[in-house]
Amino acid sequence: MKHTDIKDILEKDDFIGKEVTVCGWVRTARDSKNVAFLELNDGSSLGHLQIVIDKAKLTDVDPEATKLGASLKVIGSVVKNERNNTNEVDAAQIIVLGKCPGDYPLQKKFQKLETLREMPHIRVRTNTFNAVFRVRSIMAAAIHRFFQERGFVYINTPLITGSDAEGAGEMFQVTTIGFSKEYETEEEYYANDFFGKKTNLSVSGQLEGEIAAMGLGKIYTFGPSFRAENSNTQRHVAEFWHIEPEIAFCELPDLIEIAEDMIKYVVKDYMEKCPEELKFFEQRFEKGLTEKLLSVVNNDFAVVDYTDAIDILKKADVKFEFPVEWGCDLQSEHERYITEVVYKKPVFLINYPKDIKSFYMKQNPDGKTVAATDLLVPGVGEIIGGSEREADYDKLVKAMKDKGMGLDDYSAYLDLRKYGSVPHSGFGLGFERIIMYCTGMANIRDVILYPRTVGSIK
Ligand code: 4AD
Repeated sequence: MKHTDIKDILEKDDFIGKEVTVCGWVRTARDSKNVAFLELNDGSSLGHLQIVIDKAKLTDVDPEATKLGASLKVIGSVVKNERNNTNEVDAAQIIVLGKCPGDYPLQKKFQKLETLREMPHIRVRTNTFNAVFRVRSIMAAAIHRFFQERGFVYINTPLITGSDAEGAGEMFQVTTIGFSKEYETEEEYYANDFFGKKTNLSVSGQLEGEIAAMGLGKIYTFGPSFRAENSNTQRHVAEFWHIEPEIAFCELPDLIEIAEDMIKYVVKDYMEKCPEELKFFEQRFEKGLTEKLLSVVNNDFAVVDYTDAIDILKKADVKFEFPVEWGCDLQSEHERYITEVVYKKPVFLINYPKDIKSFYMKQNPDGKTVAATDLLVPGVGEIIGGSEREADYDKLVKAMKDKGMGLDDYSAYLDLRKYGSVPHSGFGLGFERIIMYCTGMANIRDVILYPRTVGSIK
């Protein structure tokens, strides 16, 4: 490349006295009689590079170069500004790459996140979204590295599915023809559709992940999952990125160990690689974030039985909106109480009642619970859902029948229990949820480039 990243010029003194070419967008512009200052940002850092325009030397600067949002190419020499000890560029030539008219939406220095959400194509030019997306990239790489270093095979599971996957949520239908009065019955309509049967976008790659793990041993997926839930919360999007490891010869305690190691690895890596972004989030979005994350890395997570959690909640001196009884699905207010008030750290809740969990979860000997776990974290709630899988053919078939499921779509899945079945376990981590936890961003819509939510698609 013929131009230098602004980050390198700001951080390294090697460029001092040398001529460089930098490119970027104007973040601020100040003018005075003899000199003008521009702050340029090229996305490589949260810092801006000051461009100094000495009007005596540079007489023909295009007035468009000093407009907020304009994109420029600047050639000049790097000098140390002794007053604030930062590197800046003394401009020799300024080329306007793209003009930016006065209706550019980022005129104000700080804009509300809600306002920025209305313009996802523009908000990436703010420091907040620069930081979010850099952290997202660093964390994605860390997740891959964690699994790769441990011999897991990265698998891409299909996004279009002919089964309803696992009943994890409402599904989006995939069709090329849509509703038409031409067909008399649903069967006829589906028979004429692209795949010749009803198809949906997958809510999870788990079932195919299990299939892969039964040959490859340890696998993980990292891809989008789709949920058509009609829930307009700060933690749900219709399209989210899902990391799903599946491990053969692995029981629930081993799974919990892997999940805890993974979270610690990713958080530690983020803290090491993104100090500037972490400081920014700490200042702007969550006071105490660094301390919280240090404590995640340095302390054991809690492991709490669902039954004990119910006891804790029943004894709590708090009026919950939703009543608590053994067998109930925990609401966000309950999860938050357990993790924020009682344990004040990440908590693996384990051994949930079988009636509120999916058919594939390993049935415990008590006949009432399954070997499931959810990881709850302060501020966000559930970030991981997983379980040991039922490996016994007959028990699995019975659980499916009890839940009123047809067996035909699951013959491959059942075959895994027929041919050399092994204990195995897996979990799903919501990528956006862990980013929320690590950045202090309170709304999931602010950690994904284009949030898809009920009634909203930009
Ligand atoms: O708990 P869930 O539904 O579990 C599964 O899908 C399993 N098949 C995973 C497995 O065992 N392989 O989803 C797993 C995680 C949740 O803990 C949450 O972090 C995230 O996926 N998630 C969502 N994130 C954003 N928006 C949504 N609508 C989400 N639904 C689930």
